[in-house]
Amino acid sequence: MQYHLPEIGAWGEEKYSLVRNYAQIFATSMKDKWQCRVYIDLFSGAGRSRIKDTNKIVDGSPLIALGIENPFNRYIFCEQNPDNIDALIKRVKTHYPGMDTHFVHGDANDAVDEILSHIPRFSPTFKVLAFCFVDPFKIDNLKFETLRRLSARYMDFLVLIPTGMDAQRNVSYYVRPDSKNVEEFIGKATWRNDWQEAEARGEKFGLFFIKQFCTSMDNIGYKYSTADKSVDIRLPDKNFSLYRLAFFSKHQLAHKFWDDVKKYSKPQLDLF
Ligand SMILES: C[S@@+](CC[C@H](N)C(=O)[O-])C[C@H]1O[C@@H](n2cnc3c(N)ncnc32)[C@H](O)[C@@H]1O
Repeated sequence: MQYHLPEIGAWGEEKYSLVRNYAQIFATSMKDKWQCRVYIDLFSGAGRSRIKDTNKIVDGSPLIALGIENPFNRYIFCEQNPDNIDALIKRVKTHYPGMDTHFVHGDANDAVDEILSHIPRFSPTFKVLAFCFVDPFKIDNLKFETLRRLSARYMDFLVLIPTGMDAQRNVSYYVRPDSKNVEEFIGKATWRNDWQEAEARGEKFGLFFIKQFCTSMDNIGYKYSTADKSVDIRLPDKNFSLYRLAFFSKHQLAHKFWDDVKKYSKPQLDLF
């Protein structure tokens, strides 16, 4: 059966390798410590994609997370596009019929209550820990407020930050006084003042953007992450940085896992 199959660039595979390896290390290491491990995908896609200009079909983040050893106890998938969620539900039901899966159709920023309602309640005898993958296409897909609200539960985040393909490329649009997208993504209304100073120092907007985002995460308790610990995903010719994957946890041990994942996922991953 052929379901909807979006196209992605080849660089998506590097992202998948990091998600797979982190989900695997998280699930295996936490299984004896937390009674319930939950995987949340805020921007789930269709479950599979075709690599552009090839016939190669690859699993997207939902099927990757479902396919690991020692899988999560529960999976929550959110997706706005009707063709994508429809294909995702069919693929998940076909390939992982026995798994505890929940689907949320809609804008992830509007669906926080519904997503939270699917996360089991924590208690001293039933400890619940979530890993949330946040994989937007562009800045206007995500509002910081969404992460802030989700972070009321025990939750680690792996966030794709569109530093190059969007922030850097469209800086002239984002600095306009009427544009609210940067403010909503990084959760800081006064960022333009900081940008004036950063620009005067010669900082690039992409770097400024991720630093601001890390500071906002720090303000809600995710204190170990800095821009230089994120992974730079580049076009294959390496001349253009597309985006950065940044990991956020309130616990130092999880950062050790992230360091290991960066080492093993792809030896040539470039850091700053
Ligand atoms: C980069 S793709 C994610 C792909 C998926 N994580 C994977 O690994 O294959 C982004 C997805 O987010 C969806 N999307 C965009 N804005 C959204 C929003 N506000 N809420 C939920 N889904 C959204 C798009 O339809 C698209 O499928």
